[in-house]
Amino acid sequence: LRVAILFGGRSAEHDVSRASAANVLRSLDQDRYETVLIGITREGRWIAADARNGAGTGSTALVVPQDGPQVSLLPGGGGKALLTDDTGSQARPLPAFDVVFPVLHGPHGEDGTVQGALELADVPYVGSGVLGSAVAMDKDVAKRLLQDAGLPMARFIAITAPSTIDYDDAVQAVGTKELFVKPANMGSSVGVSRARTAEEFAEACKHAFRFDRKILIEQSVPSVREIECSVLEDASGEVRASELGEIVPDDKHGFYSYDAKYIDAGGASLVVPARLAPDLSEAIKLLAIKTFKVLCCEGMARIDFFLSGQDVFVNEANTLPGFTNISMYPKLWETSGLPQSKLMDVLIAHAIA
Ligand code: DAL
Ligand code: MG
Repeated sequence: LRVAILFGGRSAEHDVSRASAANVLRSLDQDRYETVLIGITREGRWIAADARNGAGTGSTALVVPQDGPQVSLLPGGGGKALLTDDTGSQARPLPAFDVVFPVLHGPHGEDGTVQGALELADVPYVGSGVLGSAVAMDKDVAKRLLQDAGLPMARFIAITAPSTIDYDDAVQAVGTKELFVKPANMGSSVGVSRARTAEEFAEACKHAFRFDRKILIEQSVPSVREIECSVLEDASGEVRASELGEIVPDDKHGFYSYDAKYIDAGGASLVVPARLAPDLSEAIKLLAIKTFKVLCCEGMARIDFFLSGQDVFVNEANTLPGFTNISMYPKLWETSGLPQSKLMDVLIAHAIA
């Protein structure tokens, strides 16, 4: 099968995607799949990436070439694409892709936009479709759907630029003096801050609005533990939940921030499987599957939870979870008896089913 891997992209998670893609590429069984690498620049150009323009393989993060032949998918083309040289004059057809793996995180990759383009190109792709991707990317819409389905959620409000809200009113609305402020559409904790005073809150809102027109203000769950579950749908439509993992941020970072994830080695540790009573684990796995279904996810998602004592809150769903060396999604499947190359087989089989 010819698998096209899309990586990089326009979102603030461009570098995370490059690291995820290196890992995805490494774990695809070379006897079964022929891979085609397509790097998406920060400006959104799709460039055929190969050794000649520095894409490289096998390193910790694939390199997105800044120039080289541009790839465009043909609408209704059944996975056929054209390669156009830099002058735009010489278009030549590529052999059709059988399946596309969008290893992209955040807006313009994980949010249904690329999925829509792939639908129009009539090529199968790994993961959620347009609706599930779009719904899960927007934390405000996702939380409202989950609330409507009766799932346990921390309190939150959403505001849209250019509106503002006083710290005291925000505290009143969500019920805690400590607040989390985050862009509605983003991942990897980009743009997320914690605020405990009016000054911190104003700064946190300003920062989050740099990434999105809509931001979320959330209750801080007391004595919180962060628990994650990987969900996988196979080609027959059966949806399974993995063992659970726990994220333990160090004291310096305090929460699972971008830096704790990817910048400072050891900024957070992953405990896999999470140390939880069996009945609580089972309850969380069921919530993960329910969340996956309520949000119309397909193929895969990592569902993140907050745990306070015995109280579980659904935090969010990630339809293109990280596949980096330190990422939970593949690690949890590994622990659940599914090595990463087999996980790839399931994801691709689901895509082409
Ligand atoms: N948004 C990052 C990639 C994650 O959820 O793992
Ligand atoms: Mg996320």
